[in-house]
Amino acid sequence: MNNMIEQVNYDELIPNNVDLSSDKRLQRALEQWHPRFKEWWLDMGPEGFQNAEVYLRTAVGVDRKGWAKFGYVKMPDYRWGILLAPKVEGRTIPFGAHKGEPAWQEVPGEYRAMLRRLIVIQGDTEPASVEQQRHLGATAPSLYDMRNLFQVNVEEGRHLWAMVYLLQKYFGRDGREEAEMLLQRRSGNADKPRILGAFNEETPDWLSFFMFTFFTDRDGKMQLHSLAQSGFDPLSRSCRFMLTEEAHHMFVGESGVGRVIQRTCEAMIEAGISDPHDVEKIRALGVIDLPTIQRRVNFHFSVTLDLFGAEVSTNAANAFNAGLKGRFRESKLQDDHQLMDETYGVLHCVDGSFVEKQEPALTALNGRLSDDYIRDCQAGINRWNKIIARIGVDYQIKLPHKAFSRQVGVFAGVHVSPVGEVLTQQAWRAREPEWLASSADGEFIRSLMQPVSNPGEYASWIAPPREGIDGQPGSFEYVQLA
Ligand SMILES: [Fe+2]
Ligand SMILES: [Fe+2]
Repeated sequence: MNNMIEQVNYDELIPNNVDLSSDKRLQRALEQWHPRFKEWWLDMGPEGFQNAEVYLRTAVGVDRKGWAKFGYVKMPDYRWGILLAPKVEGRTIPFGAHKGEPAWQEVPGEYRAMLRRLIVIQGDTEPASVEQQRHLGATAPSLYDMRNLFQVNVEEGRHLWAMVYLLQKYFGRDGREEAEMLLQRRSGNADKPRILGAFNEETPDWLSFFMFTFFTDRDGKMQLHSLAQSGFDPLSRSCRFMLTEEAHHMFVGESGVGRVIQRTCEAMIEAGISDPHDVEKIRALGVIDLPTIQRRVNFHFSVTLDLFGAEVSTNAANAFNAGLKGRFRESKLQDDHQLMDETYGVLHCVDGSFVEKQEPALTALNGRLSDDYIRDCQAGINRWNKIIARIGVDYQIKLPHKAFSRQVGVFAGVHVSPVGEVLTQQAWRAREPEWLASSADGEFIRSLMQPVSNPGEYASWIAPPREGIDGQPGSFEYVQLA
């Protein structure tokens, strides 16, 4: 077996700041894993574009200069690196039962299983989204958008590397097995699905991709923030660097949906249509009507909220107590960071009405993180609504009620409308097509998904971006098709 593995200078191939060449055991583990990662990428990564030259950003270091090198590269040759944010000397565990003790540089034995599980769950989402998005290159609305898709894809690949590094370096044999399993599971596969529900949903079209990067990558951002606080220092440092990349994914989602909204509103004004619900006329313009966009918001928001897990959860309390997973912006919060006697208000649905119950703050951590997430989403939605108002259309995109269409947590099994009315199952089902994208919506959106591949040109349903990537002009050839 060994002689089949090509000789690679890993220190050169893999940009890293973890002194890879001095750790022979880790290097051997990576030598086993790397060819299988590449097989996975060719098999499950962007379909049909593996030979295209893509203008990508590669992180070769974590400082200002090193983390964003732009240049043309074929995706299978992308240099997926292992980069950790710089070590903070004297860092202590910022929360939980071990608060104030020196941060762990090795896995704390008593929490080994819990820590491995957290890393595996985070790691599993990274290749899952690449799999979900693998067909989208063929219908890209421009070369600019295609390049952004592939940038997100290669970075999700790098995030997988980041988690695999932790598993292989710190968890021995079972870490290597988990690293292997991360390449075995497949999004949406009935026999070996990805671990979390939203990562087994399809991403069938570009509106879905933009919604996914806005809503679901934002869950990723919240999780990375919580793990960036971790008392296990290598995890904290990995996640802190991943957050710099995640900012681009947020940008792709927010600006992507924003440009769709902009184009729709502009087309309505040009055609003299003032009623946003005049769906047939609006669709005839080759743009996506705002009510359909709202239904997609409802879908992606509710599916993503389920990713936070049950609002009231002893697992979350245990991970916090253990010092492994903190809160969003833990270090900026003004409390004792142990939460032994604190409470947090969690909304419940009791006998058909909503009541806020004070729960122990420790067990309510998932509820709290999802509330932080909702605020973060709302800020982006407000910016979308400003676009609509500026162009002069009378419509507002709204986040649905957090109890709408939930499968996980305190609202699973109750039937709540987007504005928060509690309904019977029958009444809810009858109105579902108004609230969640119907198959007719999907067919219409797919009919618009005609690829546009001339530099500087954009599909009918999306406005051009305000500026290019890396300061490049609008007509720049972001992808050189093979
Ligand atoms: Fe990621
Ligand atoms: Fe992401």
